[in-house]
Amino acid sequence: ACPRLVLGIETSCDDTGAAVLDEEGVILGESLHSQKEVHLRTGGIIPTVAQHLHREHIQRVVQEALERSGVGPSQLSAVATTVKPGLALSLGIGLEFSQRFVREHNKPFIPIHHMEAHALTVRMIHPVTFPFLVLLVSGGHSLLAVARGVSDFLLLGHSLDEAPGDTLDKVARRLSLIKHPRCSTLSGGQAIELLAKDGDRTKFPFKTPMGQTLDCSFSFSGLRNQVTMTIMKKEVEEGVEQGTLLSCVNDIAAATQHTVATHLAKRTHRAILFCKTNGLLPSSSPTLVLSGGVASNHYIREALTIITETTGLRLLCPPARFCTDNGVMIAWNGIELLREGKGVLSPDVDVHYEPKASL
Ligand code: KG4
Ligand code: ZN
Repeated sequence: ACPRLVLGIETSCDDTGAAVLDEEGVILGESLHSQKEVHLRTGGIIPTVAQHLHREHIQRVVQEALERSGVGPSQLSAVATTVKPGLALSLGIGLEFSQRFVREHNKPFIPIHHMEAHALTVRMIHPVTFPFLVLLVSGGHSLLAVARGVSDFLLLGHSLDEAPGDTLDKVARRLSLIKHPRCSTLSGGQAIELLAKDGDRTKFPFKTPMGQTLDCSFSFSGLRNQVTMTIMKKEVEEGVEQGTLLSCVNDIAAATQHTVATHLAKRTHRAILFCKTNGLLPSSSPTLVLSGGVASNHYIREALTIITETTGLRLLCPPARFCTDNGVMIAWNGIELLREGKGVLSPDVDVHYEPKASL
């Protein structure tokens, strides 16, 4: 029989991604157009701008992925596309393109849940079996879940307000780190990680969020308030204009990063204990998968390593390029669903996107 080949398409946020994978997870062709630089300049994602850029690039990105793979549309087994959750306007472009594509080429369509795709990506690289614990942390997500099967997830906790990457980006913006000579091309999280290396976190003892709440949910907006108040106070003390603080930027970066790391580590520790008490993880080589843009932070990884080592879990992080949004993870989720014969739709079924879908 012919090998099964899946085209994956991702447009849920600010990356237009496409990739063709075979059944074993070999990436035959890939293309990615990132809008990050545009959004960095405007100080955040403007949905209509993101939509416009997806519309402008999707045709080329998909064509590039197909050409690089040497696979023609007729050879595809199915097309998998993110339909939830994400920015409505962005999701719409990928879905509209895909539905037209599958109708034109008469191919099955596989709607993909963006978070599930993030959680499953690790299985493309490591032979991790279900169930495993997963912590997803990025600019748009923050959640802890048990992956029990390809389309079976138990959500243990999520952010009640903003995601940690969003918090780091906003703090970085408040400090105008983009004007900092060493940070001009970095995302907020990367800039904070870099500056924190030369900072003393003990100078600003920010409170770890939700110390009194006994569950696995996250909150970062309170921390952002604490940090913003501190920055304002320092600016007044030093008599400088907003966003021009120089003296203790490294210390603020270090303290912010430390507090985010502590919060993530404490919640993950709690989730691990909960899983152990309730027999949700296998007794032999229980695993925590860490993914998302924020997962590339070494300080945060270190904090989570301590937690997994003390609780006897194995910590797995997919390589950075698979932690962030791309077409590969969507195609891989498509392969996983195709193997199980789940969620595969005929091309003429009308599919709708769901911006706010949860796990
Ligand atoms: O997964 P991603 O590329 O996009 C989504 O949010 O979906 O993640 C980007 C986020 C940004 O908020 C960025 O500031 C953060 O991940 N980030 C980091 C680091 N690199 C990227 N946060 C902390 N430390 C880093 N090294
Ligand atoms: Zn994502």
